[in-house]
Amino acid sequence: MKNKTVIVTGAASGIGKATAELFAKQGASVVLSDINEYEVEAVTKNIRYLGGNASSFKADVSQPEEMKELVNFAVKAYGKLDIAVNNAGISGEIEPLIDLTIEDFQHVINVNLNSVFYGLKYQIPAMLKNGRGSIINISSILGAVGFAGSSAYAAAKHGVVGLSQNAALEYSALNIRVNAVGPGFIDTPMLKVLDNGIRSQIVALHPIGRFGKSEEVAELILWLGSDKASFVTGSYYPVDGGYLA
Ligand code: NAI
Repeated sequence: MKNKTVIVTGAASGIGKATAELFAKQGASVVLSDINEYEVEAVTKNIRYLGGNASSFKADVSQPEEMKELVNFAVKAYGKLDIAVNNAGISGEIEPLIDLTIEDFQHVINVNLNSVFYGLKYQIPAMLKNGRGSIINISSILGAVGFAGSSAYAAAKHGVVGLSQNAALEYSALNIRVNAVGPGFIDTPMLKVLDNGIRSQIVALHPIGRFGKSEEVAELILWLGSDKASFVTGSYYPVDGGYLA
């Protein structure tokens, strides 16, 4: 990963944090972005303290101008953009479809799906200038199946898979690979809304018998970003302890 520039959104916590740390450990220059400025700065400082090359940039992924500025920042700081991980997301409330407010539905779609469109829209031109690139969009197992109570989230995550496939169809011949990753339930702050009873019911849906770890998702993202995955594009990769089996 030496001389590679990587953007990771939602890098203050969970999967994004583990991903940014892993890329930095492999020698990449990492731009960590999050809406939570204080936390993302703390994660960035820690990477630097450990000898990594990292900068932070506050951006709300649901705001197109901020996604554009994030890409401009990365290119200005490191000269080019090689890899982007569109990871930031929210779970939204768990509730039956007809109780979901229009505002809540739109908010989850804005943060989890529209954000990926904005990412692709600004990251791809920067990568075209560089002659190559790899984009990894974080979907979910709910990008492949539904989950009662999660209509907006599942719709957004299915959309992320569709957008990734379409971007791959349009830009793979120009040397830009685009893939989607579908984590099962991963033990991050996102799951803190679940009480213990529900947690054990959900664990039982994973044949491996536990929740995943952020680091286990980060390993797949690193591989997809690297040249080792040079023939992989337009794919959806579950990393789910067997959930979809
Ligand atoms: P997390 O809650 O630990 O981290 C999400 C990060 O995104 C936070 O730092 C938060 O500040 C940031 N964020 C939220 N809204 C933002 C916005 N509008 N702009 C910029 N940053 C924003 O969550 P986790 O679990 O690490 O999730 C990361 C991704 O993985 C999300 O897209 C999530 O949907 C997906 N995922 C998570 C699963 C899980 O079980 N934890 C399962 C499947 C997918």
